[in-house]
Amino acid sequence: MRIIIRDTAQEASRLAASQIITSLPTNGRLGVATGSTPLALYGFLREAHAAGEFTLEGCSAWALDEYVQIPEDHPERYRNVLLNELVENGGTGLAADDLHTPDGAAEDPEQAARDYESQIAPGVDVQILGLGSNGHIGFNEPAGSLSSRTHVGHLTPTTRSDNARFFGNDIDAVPSLCITQGLATIMSAREIVLLAFGEGKAEAIAQIVEGGVAQRWPGSILQHHENVTVYVDEAAASRLD
Ligand code: F6R
Repeated sequence: MRIIIRDTAQEASRLAASQIITSLPTNGRLGVATGSTPLALYGFLREAHAAGEFTLEGCSAWALDEYVQIPEDHPERYRNVLLNELVENGGTGLAADDLHTPDGAAEDPEQAARDYESQIAPGVDVQILGLGSNGHIGFNEPAGSLSSRTHVGHLTPTTRSDNARFFGNDIDAVPSLCITQGLATIMSAREIVLLAFGEGKAEAIAQIVEGGVAQRWPGSILQHHENVTVYVDEAAASRLD
């Protein structure tokens, strides 16, 4: 793992955006995270697109996860979040049809998970990841399999509480089921860019970077990947040795 520490999340996000602009091949496949962490990075990608320095035209984007049974027009449905970040508001050149998200509205979410897994194979070129305060990547919560493929998962109370801020601070409004890429699916990406900002991520960063590989800290599996860059601000780096 390469660890890049910058004073602020803004500076770290700008560097991460540069890495993605350099690494993503023409017509490449980009894995995209939601949550608050990658929003500045997406802003930099839109800026680079507006300046004619970057485009996702001809590329495809693949979401990490989606809530199950969230209303289609809900602003926190991850498909809507990613349309907003990558296709609308000036966009990045990505066509809406080239944005792939697990079908959280499917009658059979387990089948939708298997379908997504076969579509994403053999893996994306570059995967953007955030990190849960409990060490999750995608919605692979602690104690799950380290070799999982895309599956239906349960969000832990910690994650539902962390995400309540997106749902009017009402934890009961946060869906409890999701479809998420598995850890083996994420590991099949050729290159991985993980971002984590703020004191709330400091323990998880210390564990996934310097702890042992363990189900308790799902992101620790990334220690077995040969091309991972971790971008952190000073606060998230504060518990690294
Ligand atoms: C989002 C995702 C999650 C988030 C993580 C951090 O698609 O898969 O793993 O990256 O929960 O969320 P934020 O960035 O909101 O702190």
